[in-house]
Amino acid sequence: MVNLRLILILLLGVVLSLSAQQATVIPQPASIQEMDGFLTVRQAEAQQWAQATTTRLPQTPHLKVTITPTGLGAEGYSLQVTRKGVQVQAATQLGAYYALQTLRQLLPIQVLTAVSTDKKLTIPLVCIQDQPRFQYRGFMLDVSRHFHPVTEIKRLLDLMAFYKMNRFHWHLTDDDGWRAEIKKYPKLTTVGARSDSCRMNDMQRGLYYQKNYGPYFYTQQEMRDVVAYAQERGIEVVPEIDMPGHFCAALAAYPEFSCDPQASHAVVDGHGGIYEDVLNVASPKAVEFAKDILNELCEIFPYPYIHIGGDECPTSAWERNEQCQEVIAANHLKNPRQLQQRFIKQIHDFLQTKGKKLYVWNECITEEGADVELMQQTGATVFSWYPSRKAARLAAQLKMPTVVSDIHSEDGSYYINRRPSAAEGEPKGAGNGSDTVEKTYTYVPVPIDLPAEQQPYYIGVQATFWSEWVSDSLFLEYLALPKLMAVAESGWTPESQKSWPSFRCRMTTHTQYLDAWGYNYSKHWMLSK
Ligand code: ACM
Repeated sequence: MVNLRLILILLLGVVLSLSAQQATVIPQPASIQEMDGFLTVRQAEAQQWAQATTTRLPQTPHLKVTITPTGLGAEGYSLQVTRKGVQVQAATQLGAYYALQTLRQLLPIQVLTAVSTDKKLTIPLVCIQDQPRFQYRGFMLDVSRHFHPVTEIKRLLDLMAFYKMNRFHWHLTDDDGWRAEIKKYPKLTTVGARSDSCRMNDMQRGLYYQKNYGPYFYTQQEMRDVVAYAQERGIEVVPEIDMPGHFCAALAAYPEFSCDPQASHAVVDGHGGIYEDVLNVASPKAVEFAKDILNELCEIFPYPYIHIGGDECPTSAWERNEQCQEVIAANHLKNPRQLQQRFIKQIHDFLQTKGKKLYVWNECITEEGADVELMQQTGATVFSWYPSRKAARLAAQLKMPTVVSDIHSEDGSYYINRRPSAAEGEPKGAGNGSDTVEKTYTYVPVPIDLPAEQQPYYIGVQATFWSEWVSDSLFLEYLALPKLMAVAESGWTPESQKSWPSFRCRMTTHTQYLDAWGYNYSKHWMLSK
């Protein structure tokens, strides 16, 4: 008798877990309970839910959205689907918007893609209490090495929102192209946004060189448009002006701010790399130039953070420059590297007057000789990419917030431009093919042995996409998808609830969305064991 009851309970468990297949949500919610049965509504009503934005939350006969404290934080929500209707509760519009993203994923896929009809459809009954693991869930796109148009950026923002990512880090400038219109310095785009020749690598033609690439850049109006589009989807846009290194495009336009104005300065040809031609941080005029640029961007990007790069900055030009040597001596700097932290502090002081704070790459604290104490004073958030583990730990020890975006370590990579496979016929690209979707998914961003008091400094994760090997949108999507979703789930779902087999299964179902919306994506991960 007891055994029979046990068998019945087990059978019930199997039935429940089978019905659990109905709710295929990414990122996996923190708590989800599924009940037997369905809510039935008309397609036209469900389509209104799917069109929600952060500023336009629908109220329809079967949907009640209430903004009220929930105990689930600013971005959390509760979502109840009963036979009578859908109830959403959240502390903010953003939390409610996320509830609606979950609801979108509970709807039959045709609702999101087909024209509205009066047909009835069913939604599984669920009770969800959800909130993100991390406050920062980012995606970075490099548009310098190759330009990606606003239409493509909006397609990616759509996916970010669907998967509850909340920061778009826009890497607007680098050696290979200056992509942001700055009114005070028009040559940044007339000269800095084009190159005589560019290495291209696209999905159809593979590798080739193109003469006269550009000028390609975003006007200020286009940047405002992207900000508004992202804002409606709960995404803050973080502009990055990478300085004082990775600055060749700017110095091709304005060589007077380099360490050797008489030398030749050129925009790089799409290859990426590290170059010695860096901003002359000892020149007050050059520092003013940097501030003027940021000043214009502060007007366009309404959020509290500006990324000022700071990665891969050789000091050789400073070592050869008299003005730099004078500043080192006058300020008793211990080495040329400390010119960089001095510059960052100047930029910090300027941005502080505008109410803005700094994001920086980890070299600002990890390069040998760096003035770490001065960096600490800036309160910057450190983006840990290489060596990511070490950098993130150091940031946390220094009580500086850190966002994890590991380029490539044994346990995985958040650089989602790297090839997931080196199979025959794969397009050429960064990486050796070992950076699979599984490796991205299973990467553990906060090491399990991290002291408890340091954990709060790990504020987020970021999927990072560099474009030196990618010149078209098809290839961009092919490499980025679905690794973007793997990082989205790592940013939202508690570590203990992550499961690669589960993600792989849910993501396989979600390829229907990608197909319906016409995204290109890799498929190896679906086949792998
Ligand atoms: C970087 O990958 N240079 C931040």
